[in-house]
Amino acid sequence: MIRKIAILTSGGDAPGMNAALRVCIRAGLYYGKEMYVIYDGFRGLVEGDIHQVNKDFTQDIINRGGTIIRSARLPEFKEPEVLKKAVDILTDFEIDALIGIGGDGTFRGLNDLAKMGFTCVGIPATIDNDVGSTDETIGFSTALNTICECIDKLKDTSSSHQRCSLVEVMGRHCGDLAMYAALAEGAEGVICVEHPLHEDKLFKKLRKMKAQNKNHAIIIVSENLLDINELAKKVEEETGFTARTEVLGRLQRGGSPTAHDRILAARLGSAAVDLLLNNEGNSKIVGMKNNAVVNYPIEEAVAMKHQPTHGLRDLIDMLQ
Ligand code: F6P
Repeated sequence: MIRKIAILTSGGDAPGMNAALRVCIRAGLYYGKEMYVIYDGFRGLVEGDIHQVNKDFTQDIINRGGTIIRSARLPEFKEPEVLKKAVDILTDFEIDALIGIGGDGTFRGLNDLAKMGFTCVGIPATIDNDVGSTDETIGFSTALNTICECIDKLKDTSSSHQRCSLVEVMGRHCGDLAMYAALAEGAEGVICVEHPLHEDKLFKKLRKMKAQNKNHAIIIVSENLLDINELAKKVEEETGFTARTEVLGRLQRGGSPTAHDRILAARLGSAAVDLLLNNEGNSKIVGMKNNAVVNYPIEEAVAMKHQPTHGLRDLIDMLQ
């Protein structure tokens, strides 16, 4: 029987991780379980930084950005001796199950622990929205709103100077933040894996806008694809627009989670605890598909590829 449950957050922090942590702790306590938190993700696990918590720990965290139990990236968390140490420590603390809140990297770590016989459940939380086993990840909605707030402000100054602004957003290798932001902002261009750069088309459009004396142009570029400063130079040479670049960076990961992310955290967090209690011994990842909470065996979930939102690309092209 599962008596003691530990929770960690891992990978890039995402708004709503605290809300998910809160739900897991409260749901576990509600069912009479002992609840533990692990600081600093898998690194803290290997170091035994594990602490029992009660309901007070969850006070006033639902609206807080970041993760109060901190996060870390530990690339070594795949080496057999590191994994063995993690399992030994969980056994020493008599922890029966582990909940990991994070993205793909976190789920790979949980999968490795599950293969060693330890029961784990994963909750998808990353601003990138790049997890295959869910339609949406905790943190995506907040990061998208942050990007939109920044671009709204940028439009003011961009218009005042009749400039073309190139805005680099995060997403690692997933274009969801870029495409959703392009749609929400009515951007003139978006460049990401799912919507690659066609220079001729883009420059032609910008030349036309310049000739029509348009006030500004916004081009959203996904990270890890190209050098936006080089692209800005080309925009100046080819279109007559003065260009400026903005890399939004980790600003996108901060801030209080949107109501949407808090509710998503509540639905996924409670489902994770339910699974542990009703599905003993089976390691799973929870997610949302078509607005219903679903779960998949971890091994299956980590192999799933994120699919771009149906029709989004065509919609963006139609509206540009
Ligand atoms: O996975 C979240 C994310 O913010 C990605 O969008 C980005 O590529 C990466 O983390 C940056 O990670 P770090 O803050 O560790 O450099």
